[in-house]
Amino acid sequence: QEDIFKNVISHAKEYGFIFPSSEIYDGLSAVYDYAQNGVELKKNIRDYWWKSMVQMHENIVGLDSSILMHPTTWKASGHVDAFNDPLIDNKDSKKRYRADVLIEDYAEKLNIKALKEIEKARVRFGDAFDEAEFVATNTRVIAYKDKERAILERLATSLEKEDLEDVKALIEELEIACPETGSRNWTEVRQFNLMFGTKLGASADTAMDLYLRPETAQGIFVNFLNVQKTGRMKIPFGIAQTGKAFRNEIVARQFIFRMREFEQMEMQFFVRPGEEMKHYEFWKETRLKWHLSLGLGKENYRFHDHEKLAHYANAAADIEFNFPFGFKELEGIHSRTDFDLKAHEKFSGKKLQYFDTELNKNYVPYVVETSVGLDRMFLAVFATSLKEETLEDGSTRTVLRLPSVLAPTKAAVLPLVKKDGLPEIAHKIIEDLKWDFSVAYDEKDAVGRRYRRQDALGTPFCITVDHQTIEDQTVTIRHRDTMKQDRVKITDLNALIQNEVAV
Ligand code: GAP
Repeated sequence: QEDIFKNVISHAKEYGFIFPSSEIYDGLSAVYDYAQNGVELKKNIRDYWWKSMVQMHENIVGLDSSILMHPTTWKASGHVDAFNDPLIDNKDSKKRYRADVLIEDYAEKLNIKALKEIEKARVRFGDAFDEAEFVATNTRVIAYKDKERAILERLATSLEKEDLEDVKALIEELEIACPETGSRNWTEVRQFNLMFGTKLGASADTAMDLYLRPETAQGIFVNFLNVQKTGRMKIPFGIAQTGKAFRNEIVARQFIFRMREFEQMEMQFFVRPGEEMKHYEFWKETRLKWHLSLGLGKENYRFHDHEKLAHYANAAADIEFNFPFGFKELEGIHSRTDFDLKAHEKFSGKKLQYFDTELNKNYVPYVVETSVGLDRMFLAVFATSLKEETLEDGSTRTVLRLPSVLAPTKAAVLPLVKKDGLPEIAHKIIEDLKWDFSVAYDEKDAVGRRYRRQDALGTPFCITVDHQTIEDQTVTIRHRDTMKQDRVKITDLNALIQNEVAV
């Protein structure tokens, strides 16, 4: 699995999808740039979301609020006081850890330790080795399986309860169980606020302390009444937006899974108080259907209903995805009650109420939110689509089986040779197709190699112009997934591609 993940990261770099930020200065931890193909894939995911959320729903409208907001916003939302992660430092190694990530580290280390024991025994006993029997009788492996796992589970529970003293004690207990992994010299566990601070204004004494937004949602809440009034929106209705969010993650790792600068796609749905559970269930199902529509495999998704709820929620669930490093949160659906609007009323002194003409009364609406990370979606789509295939003739190919609707380039047009007027015809085809699709031209290398390159980029179609094209205005069209080729008229190309890549 680790190898698969390494492949994903190197493929993303080699084929121009994702580069580390400011790489010539050795990069910036957990910050990434989307390259020429990555930016197209990311845009297509964003568009796919926008279309299904805004365009397809009469009662949902869009918004693009600013990243910088009045600082009181974050007081009201609770982020100044409560947007924290537990942090612990190791005094010997001078390394800093997020306590919850440390659990994953230990689980991994202990797992490796157990696997090593098994491997040693396999070498020693050769053919006679029976893994099940070994695990059942070997005390060290059993210890991992039972005792240390129990500590890990207790640690997870203490973290959920935010019992920080207990967390520290359990980390120390784990160190004893696994002494080769470090030392027992830890600081106290403390809470660390994840918001990035910045300043507005030039002079040091008048400058105002601001935060970069840690979620896009608050831009929607503070605009709730503006949008409702000017758009004459009737409850239930939604406001959707996509945009950058920033979190000073203590330990940011796993490539674009946990970044310090990332993009969210959020929708707040404003409903009548008391009716929120109906809408919450609706959006849970609707969002899962949206994910399934991409065809990455039903088995790769599951719901995780939260037992411990954030201060603003009365129900919450994650849609988890099977990433190369296991099932992890991809999207959150939260029933946020009237917490945010009420808090903004209190801190701003402005009424944020809706007059319901059917009920003939004013109230602060309840909110059901859907929130998905665009970069996490990118990782889910990209990692699941990347395949190493062994072909019938025994050779291998790397293919990015992206959903066609998301592919950065829909078709590559390839002249078989660089002469005899074939490049000119290829360019002419591009001239026609580019109004509707993103298309690429490639004349370098043998055509077989060009096919492989397009496979690795996830391009669903390769259109090849050959000498027969000059005679009868037909080309071959090759399908990425089946590698099958059909001979078709140039005039049919547009409809053929449209048929495959339409939403
Ligand atoms: N407005 C609600 C909210 O922000 P969240 O669960 O903190 O909820 C929503 O974030 C989604 O944003 C997550 O499900 C995840 O996909 C994405 N996300 C959160 N932190 C992230 C990070 N550091 N890097 C990448 N994506 C992140």
